[in-house]
Amino acid sequence: MSASLAAVSYLGATILFILSLGGLSSPETARRGNLYGIIGMALAVVATVFGPRVTSGGIGWIVMALVVGGGIGFYAAKVVKMTQMPELVALMHSLVGLAACLVGYASYVDTSVEFTGVEKAIHEVEIYVGILIGAVTFSGSLIAFGKLSGKIGGKPLLLPGRHFLNLGLLLIVIWFGRAFLNAHDVASGMTPLIVMTVISLIFGVHMVMAIGGADMPVVVSMLNSYSGWAAAATGFMLSNDLLIVTGALVGSSGAILSYIMCNAMNRNFISVIAGGFGSGAPKPAAAASAEPQGEVTPVSAEETAEMLREAKNVIIVPGYGMAVAQAQHTVCEITRHLREKGVNVRFGIHPVAGRMPGHMNVLLAEAKVPYDIVLEMDEINEDFGDTDVSMVIGANDIVNPAAQEDPSSPIAGMPVLEVWKARNSIVMKRSMASGYAGVDNPLFYKENNRMLFGDARKMLDEVLGALVKH
Ligand code: TAP
Repeated sequence: MSASLAAVSYLGATILFILSLGGLSSPETARRGNLYGIIGMALAVVATVFGPRVTSGGIGWIVMALVVGGGIGFYAAKVVKMTQMPELVALMHSLVGLAACLVGYASYVDTSVEFTGVEKAIHEVEIYVGILIGAVTFSGSLIAFGKLSGKIGGKPLLLPGRHFLNLGLLLIVIWFGRAFLNAHDVASGMTPLIVMTVISLIFGVHMVMAIGGADMPVVVSMLNSYSGWAAAATGFMLSNDLLIVTGALVGSSGAILSYIMCNAMNRNFISVIAGGFGSGAPKPAAAASAEPQGEVTPVSAEETAEMLREAKNVIIVPGYGMAVAQAQHTVCEITRHLREKGVNVRFGIHPVAGRMPGHMNVLLAEAKVPYDIVLEMDEINEDFGDTDVSMVIGANDIVNPAAQEDPSSPIAGMPVLEVWKARNSIVMKRSMASGYAGVDNPLFYKENNRMLFGDARKMLDEVLGALVKH
C-alpha cells in the first residue's frame, strides 16, 4: 500500500471514529456508532499492517500477535458478565498503558533513525512523557481492576502527607527528566528513564489506592481518559497521526465522561484529576450506619401487582440488582402489560446506576423497552410528586434520601432519584443489605414505602403472573 493510500485510509478511519462517538451518544444510534467504530478500526489495522512502514518480513509476526491478542480478547468478551465489564475495561486500560511504556523504550533504544538538535529533544520529551503517562495508567488500572473485582479492599488508603508525597514524586520525575534530556547516549539516559518509570508506577498505585470504593466509577472513566492520552503519546513517538487523533478522542471523551460522573456523584473534578481524591469516599463510620435503622413494611407480589394495576402513573427505577438478576425482560413484559391497560409507565435512570455508565440503558434497550419512556434523572426527578407508584428494582444508593437529608452521610450531596415523593414506593431487593456505598437507606423505613423481598427476576415473574391473571 502506498503512503498516500495509507494516509487516505487513516483519514477515513478518523472520520469513522468521530461518527462512532457521535452515534454512541444516544441509544437509538448506538448500534450504528458501534459499527462505524468497528469499520474504522478494521480500516486502521489494514492500512497500518499493509502500509509503507511495515516490511514484508514483519507481517508474519503481526498476524501472529493479532491471532493471539484477538483470541484472548474474543474469549474475554464472551465469558465476562455484564456486571464485570468495568473490571475488564480497567484491565484493558492497563494494557494501553503497558503498550505506551514498551513503545517508549523501543523508540529510545531504536537508533535506526538519527535525531539531532531540537528534533532530538522533542523526540526524547515524547518518550519521557509517553512512558510517564503509560506507567501511571498501567499501574493505576491494575489497582482499579483489583478494587473493582474485590481482590483489593475498597477502603481508601490515606497515607499521612500523601499530597506532599505526590508532589515529591513529581519533583523527582522532573529532576530525572532533566538528566534524561542531558544524557549523551542511550546507555546513560536509561537510568533516569528507569527511575522515572518506577516512580510513575508507584504514583499510579498510590493515586488509585487513595480512592474509596464508591468513587471507583469516576476513576475508571478517568483512567479511560489517561489511556487515551497514553495512546496519543505513543502516536507522537511513532509519528502515527491516526494514533494521535484516536488517542486524543479517547482522552477527551474520557475526561468529559469523568466530569459528567463527578457531577452525578457530587465530586470535585479538579481533585479527581489531581488524583488527591479519597477524603470524600466512604468513611469507616459508614459501616456502623449500614445497620438497619427502623421498621419496614413488606408486601407480596400480588399486592404489588394490585398497586401497579390501580396506578395511573408509574416510574420504574432500575439498579444494579436488576442487572444481577437479569430481570430486564420481565420488566419489559410488565411495562408492556401495564401500558396496554392505560398506565403511564416510565423509567428513571440515574447516571451511575449499576456498575458502568449507561448500564441500565443497555439492558433496557436489549429487552426492547421503548427509548422514549426511558428518561434521565434530571428529566424525571420533578415528576415523582405526581406519581402513584415508584418501583425500585435492585437499586439502593441512587434512591437514598440520606444524600439530601443527612449532611454526615458518606453520600451526602450526591443527586438521587426522589422516589419517596411518589404516593407509594416499592423497593424490590433480597434483604436489608446496603448497596455499593455501604450505607443504610432511610427510604426503606418511610411510611409510604413497601419492601418486596426476593430476587428481582423471581419477584417480577410473580408480579407479572398476578397482573396477567386479572
Ligand atoms: P447499589 O446501591 O449497589 O444497590 C443494589 C442493590 O441491589 C443492593 O442493595 C442489593 O440488595 C440489590 N440486589 C442485588 N442483587 C439482587 C437481586 N438478584 N435481586 C434483587 N435485588 C438485588 O446499586 P445502585 O442503586 O444501582 O447504585 C449504583 C452504585 O454503584 C452507586 O453507589 C455507584 O456509585 C456505584 N458504581 C457505579 C458505577 C457506574 S459507572 N454506574 C460503577 C461502579 C460503582 P440485596 O443484597 O438486599 O438484594
